[in-house]
Amino acid sequence: MAKLRAQYVCQSCGYVSPKWLGRCPECAGWNSLVEEMARKAGASAVGASQAVALSEVVQEEVARIRSGLGELDRVLGGGLVPGSLVLLGGDPGIGKSTLLLQLLQGIASDAKQPVLYVSGEESVRQTALRARRLGATAPSLLVLSETRLDAILAEATRLSPVVLAIDSIQTVQAPELESVPGSLSQVREAAGRLLSFAKERSVATILVGHVTKDGALAGPKTLEHVVDTVVHFEGEAGHPYRILRATKNRFGSTNEVGVFEMQSEGLREVANPSALFLAERPIGASGSAVIAALEGTRPLLVEIQALVATAAGLPRRAALGVDPNRVSLLLAVIERRAGIDVLGQDVFVNVAGGVRLSEPAADLGLIAAIASSAARRPVDPRTVCFGEVGLAGEVRAVAQPDLRLAEACKLGFRRCVLPSPNAERSSVRGDLELVGVRDVEAALDALLRPG
Ligand code: TYD
Ligand code: MG
Repeated sequence: MAKLRAQYVCQSCGYVSPKWLGRCPECAGWNSLVEEMARKAGASAVGASQAVALSEVVQEEVARIRSGLGELDRVLGGGLVPGSLVLLGGDPGIGKSTLLLQLLQGIASDAKQPVLYVSGEESVRQTALRARRLGATAPSLLVLSETRLDAILAEATRLSPVVLAIDSIQTVQAPELESVPGSLSQVREAAGRLLSFAKERSVATILVGHVTKDGALAGPKTLEHVVDTVVHFEGEAGHPYRILRATKNRFGSTNEVGVFEMQSEGLREVANPSALFLAERPIGASGSAVIAALEGTRPLLVEIQALVATAAGLPRRAALGVDPNRVSLLLAVIERRAGIDVLGQDVFVNVAGGVRLSEPAADLGLIAAIASSAARRPVDPRTVCFGEVGLAGEVRAVAQPDLRLAEACKLGFRRCVLPSPNAERSSVRGDLELVGVRDVEAALDALLRPG
């Protein structure tokens, strides 16, 4: 049996110290170190291991467990892999439990073996109520309301389910550790044992992890190295749209996204998100630009809105859906390279529909929306743009222009302002007029109509 010894672990960053400290040397948080028990690695007997030639390893095609929700299966790389451990992260209330139940229902509806949903947050009755609303009533979908790790593993061993889902990992309790559920050592211990269970019995296991307000998967953050796949469920409060994003996937590509809409009877897949995100776009108003973004392999047309207003006092800045630092940088570029006065003004930026954009290809759209608002000149509603913008005001090429252009064509856009190198090499034509630009000035000339 491994020995237990005390250690002090920072609850916000995971820093470990042998003695208590008032302030964490790693993240400078006050009073964040908590005593936890750690297992001391005992001297273990070393068994023989033999290396094999990579070329001689037989490749088996892994049979994926599909949920039937296309958006979800694609993000997972084609479905769940037996024996894999998946972390599903997201803010409380975003819809993780809902998504999980719908996923499990999809699998249970044509599986012979049971599918086990363990809830540490809701009673069996509460879960059943929700499941009924979602139509998750397959006979082989079983629910267990339990927080003790040993009891969960015992029941999972007995049932031998195809999929085991734990909602959430922060509620699971390993009784041999003294710290409270949700603390780093508890979460790590529980995940470690669930990982062994998943691998030994080849059960696809899904762990739900709540994200803290600052966006970090507290506790679960430390699990990202352990699990095979990390998917995040995101969305803005008050918007019905939810985006599922893979940030790590040992069994598929990362950065795939799935788009869902939260409705009263659960999550609905959105097959054509571009049309949805553009549906309520104001036509002919200044401060709005459409960009052709790319989420994984999927092109997505989204509207960026900006409002530039006279500042009363210190200029204020707010950015929703894009990195505020990126906006600050682009404001400086607009001021210096395009000669539009924005640095002294209030600037508000928003990505419509609660979408979050992280790729630099959105730069040109941000610049267009901000300059459009500042100059009170609308962007032509049938024009779309994309491109990365550098500090010298140059417009740089981005990846996969053809995918973006094809999506713009499909949605009836007539003109696209894009980096020159992308325009020169593009093979998509159709009805789309391509305007290649080399700098911000040329881009704004092409984008902004005289108002
Ligand atoms: P939930 O799945 O409980 O979120 P999480 O597990 O991430 O904390 O979903 C919570 C929200 O979703 C809740 O505010 C109500 C809403 N909701 C719907 O709008 N429709 C539905 O069918 C369900 C089940 C939930
Ligand atoms: Mg939940």
